[in-house]
Amino acid sequence: MYSEKVMDHFNNPRNVGELDNPSGVGTVGNAKCGDIMRMYLDIDEKGVIRDVKFKTFGCGAAVATSSMATELVKGKTVEEALTVTNKAVMEALDGLPPVKVHCSLLAEEAIHAALWDYAQKNNLVIEGLKEPVEDISEIEEEEEY
Ligand code: FES
Repeated sequence: MYSEKVMDHFNNPRNVGELDNPSGVGTVGNAKCGDIMRMYLDIDEKGVIRDVKFKTFGCGAAVATSSMATELVKGKTVEEALTVTNKAVMEALDGLPPVKVHCSLLAEEAIHAALWDYAQKNNLVIEGLKEPVEDISEIEEEEEY
């Protein structure tokens, strides 16, 4: 049912934890399943993501997608990080079962929420970044899988 990569990131999630004095923090949840994700970003003065950590109270697919998402955004600029969509994360994991696709949105939205927090704190406008929602179940119905 799950790819080897999903199982690997579920069993050995990368970048789990918290950051002291993060540049941005984002927390999102999905009211339908009750899962919650928090993402911490450390962004340097050039706008490069130096470090990233996540914590989740979520299902295995949420753990695996968040783990992969943190790997994909680390070392990237803020603008490049915006291109790390849930679809890109799923591709990097060799796919997810259809019923678990929504879980990958939690990681994408938590990164967006942390970037939004960073932008707010620094009075920046990040092109293409929308104000995050706290409950992703509000947007997942609009998504096309
Ligand atoms: Fe809720 Fe996976 S079931 S995030």
